Parts: sequence; C-alpha cells; structure tokens
Amino acid sequence: MSGFEPVLLRNVGVEGVRTLKVSESRGGWAAARKALTTMTPDEIVEEVRRSGLRGRGGAGFPTGVKWSFLPKDRKHTVLCVNFDESEPGTFNNRYLAEHDPHLVLEGILIAAYATRADLAYIYLRAEYHELFHILQRALDEAYAAGWFGADILGTGYRLECHIHRGAGAYVCGEETGLIESLEGKRGWPRIKPPYPAVRGAFGRPTVVNNVETLACLPAIIERGAEWFASIGTPGSTGPKLYTVSGPVNRPGCFEAPLGLTVRELIEGDDFAGGMAGGRKVKAVIPGGLSVGILTADELDCRLDFTDVLNYGLLGLGTAGAIVIGDDADMRKVLANTARFYAHESCGQCTHCREGTGWMARIAERIAAGAGRIADLDLIVELCGRMGMMSGMSICGLPDGAAYPIRLIVEKFRGELEEAIGRQPPGYTERYIRDRIPSVYALPVLQAGAAPARERAVPA
Ligand SMILES: Cc1cc2nc3c(=O)[nH]c(=O)nc-3n(C[C@H](O)[C@H](O)[C@H](O)COP(=O)(O)O)c2cc1C
Ligand code: SF4
Repeated sequence: MSGFEPVLLRNVGVEGVRTLKVSESRGGWAAARKALTTMTPDEIVEEVRRSGLRGRGGAGFPTGVKWSFLPKDRKHTVLCVNFDESEPGTFNNRYLAEHDPHLVLEGILIAAYATRADLAYIYLRAEYHELFHILQRALDEAYAAGWFGADILGTGYRLECHIHRGAGAYVCGEETGLIESLEGKRGWPRIKPPYPAVRGAFGRPTVVNNVETLACLPAIIERGAEWFASIGTPGSTGPKLYTVSGPVNRPGCFEAPLGLTVRELIEGDDFAGGMAGGRKVKAVIPGGLSVGILTADELDCRLDFTDVLNYGLLGLGTAGAIVIGDDADMRKVLANTARFYAHESCGQCTHCREGTGWMARIAERIAAGAGRIADLDLIVELCGRMGMMSGMSICGLPDGAAYPIRLIVEKFRGELEEAIGRQPPGYTERYIRDRIPSVYALPVLQAGAAPARERAVPA
C-alpha cells in the first residue's frame, strides 16, 4: 500500500531478529527504555488513551480507558496476555510473535509498567507448540539481559513474566474463561461484575489484553500518540494485521492501516493477490468467524470499527478473513459454522448450550440434504434468543455464534432454499437417522409446524 511503512511487521524477514541482539540493533526495546526511565505509569496510560488504540482481540475496547478502570489504591496487579487466538480464520498473533517475539515482550513490559503490574502471564494457545519454544527462548534472553525480574533498568520496578499453555478450548479466549483456566480450573467464563479490573486472576486487579494490542505500544511510546492517531480512519486508529485464508493466490498475514477494504485485501497485489484457479468470490467471513459474513456484493466494506456495522456485522473482530469461493456449498459453510459453536460452548448457560446444539443439528440436517424451508426460519428465530446482548448468557460466545449463522441464512437464503428444493426423493427420516444419528434427535423439528411449501418427507 503506497506510503505506508509497516510498523508491526517491520522486522519480518530480518535474519536473526528472534534474538535480543538483532532486535536491539533494529531499535527493539528502545521504547521500553524510554517508558521506564522517562515516563510515569499514568503518563503512559494517557499517551495510549490519546493514541486512540482499541483492543485488537475482538471487542475493540479503548485500551487506555480499560487500564484506567483499575482501582487507584491497588497493591498487586496482574497482566494477562491473551494469546489464545482460537477465533477461526485468525493467525495474526502467531505470525507476529513467530517473526518478532521481542516486539511482543517489549509491549508486555510497557503495558505492565503502565498498569503497575508485577506479574504477567502469557496465556498461549495449546496448539502453538513451536511458538512456545520461540517465545520461551526470547523471554529467557530478555530475563538474562535484565528486561524482566527485579529492578529493571535500575528503576526499582519488578516484573515477573510466565508463559502458561492452554489446553485447547475456544472459550478460554474469553477473558474470564482465560483467568479461570490460568488459575487451574475448568475454563468457565465468570459472571460479571466483578470485572477483572477489580477482581481478576487470583483475586487481584487484572488487565487482559490481546498480543497485537500490546505490540502496538512500543511504536506509540516511540513516535507519539498523534502519529499513531494519524493512521487509519476516524475512531479506528493505527496499523492492523489482517490475515487471509481460503482460495486466494497468496494466503497470509498482511499489515495496513485500519480501514482497508475487503476488496483491497483480497485483490491487492500487496495482499492476497486475487482469487486462485479462476474462482470468483462467493462470500467472505471478514473478521474471524464470529463477526458474520459478507456477500460478493459487499466487498467495499472497510475493515475498521465502524463501517462493518453498516453491513450487519457484529464488529471488526480480529480482521482474520476467510474467503469462500463460488464452488462452495453454503449448506456446508452453515453446518461447519454451527458445529464449531456447539462444540465450543462450555455448557453453563442453557440458551447457549441448547441453542448452539439445536442449530448445529438443524444445519447438519440441511447439509445432509434433508432440510426443510421451515428450518431456515427456525435457525433465525433461535439466533434471536441467545447471547449476552439479549441477556441470556454469561459470555459473548453465543452472540458470536448467532451473527454468522443468522447472516449466512439471511444473506444466502436464496441459495439455501434452492438447494433444499433440489433434494432428491428418497431422503427419508430413516435415511438421515442411519447416517447422522445426532440429527435425528430433533424433537423440536418434528412438531409438524412446517409451512405448506415444504417438501413432505416420507416416513
Ligand atoms: C468466546 C470468546 C473467545 C475469545 N477469544 C479471544 C482470543 O482468542 N484472543 C483475544 O485476544 N480475545 C479473545 N476474546 C476477547 C477477550 O474476551 C477480550 O475482550 C480481549 O482479550 C481483550 O483484549 P484487547 O482489549 O486487547 O482486545 C474472546 C471473547 C469471547 C467471548
Ligand atoms: S454463554 Fe455459552 S460459552 Fe459462555 S459461559 Fe455461557 S454456556 Fe459457556
């Protein structure tokens, strides 16, 4: 993208940059030195607030504002680095830390100092085996050089940092599920309040931040809040990492200012370089699965915190785009999506546990070729009855389920109806029961309230 110099990925491809020596030679850790030796914690909080930095983990909450919720009279504070990265289609945290682990560690030190944390945990996604070793090596080196531990840079400030490996649950990316898991318990999200800022990990005031959010801090300290705020679109400041997967020429992780359009991301020569194998775009899940879906006519959507709302999406999410080609069967996209949330619901809340399960079974039935038109209405109705937004759940997982599932049905209804209409005769209840036993267990669907246009399914 013309005129834009990478900020977060500026060290990608630099030989040996995973080592402290090369990182420092490229300007690494200079911002942490500046922060600890020339700024007070409150000055850093104010600088970050003025930069407009909003969390990159999905919710987009302003980082400086979040930090200011910590009680003023606190004694011990914990910083939890959310490296669970389990949102489908998202791998920007992994890409960043694999290439530049010291940038992530430097961001952690700045955030910990700003929030007066004396303990930092990097909660790392279970499947990131190699990355664990990359991060641990970088952390060991940083400790040996005095960037962690007691009396950092002779300032009297002490910070201990540990990497904690998760066990592979999507819900442990939710900040209170993460905290429970960190404490050695089942990763069940907590009822709030109290919020983590008041009572978080081990009962201490806690800040949870995403890896990419923290990686923005060195640049803010070094170049100033105004410079950071000048990048992006109003209300969506700074650089952003975008990931792209699916049938494109160059799947991968790319950096650009916030506000890149989905079309630029897919077609741009600096980005995914267009569709592969002569395919056309049928749909794009632009921000991790939970934000919802765009049609091929909606590719001018800007990936920032506001324009996505004009397209009915839940939010920007992680900006992890999954591109779906014109050869895809949207029934399968629907079933895959629904199955994921049913599998990952932790089961504490009835509407989430049962709702995601029902939707998965209905969607599987549609994908198996035995759907009914009424199933589509039923799915949309179920989506409206679950989630934190409707006051029915402890955490946001069911909102994240309802958006993509409802939008797939609403935006691709024509195709789904047509596919249901094309089902060959002979798809009997017995046929479905034999092949997908779980689908058959759908008493709610057997109630016989189907509209007249629905195909009769012979017994
Ligand atoms: C079900 C669920 C899964 C989540 N997974 C992640 C995740 O993998 N990584 C992440 O940073 N945030 C995740 N979040 C958002 C976190 O709860 C939290 O908002 C975020 O870590 C805050 O960091 P930020 O302010 O820097 O974005 C998830 C939220 C929900 C509801
Ligand atoms: S909303 Fe779902 S995932 Fe979240 S706590 Fe309740 S049951 Fe668990």
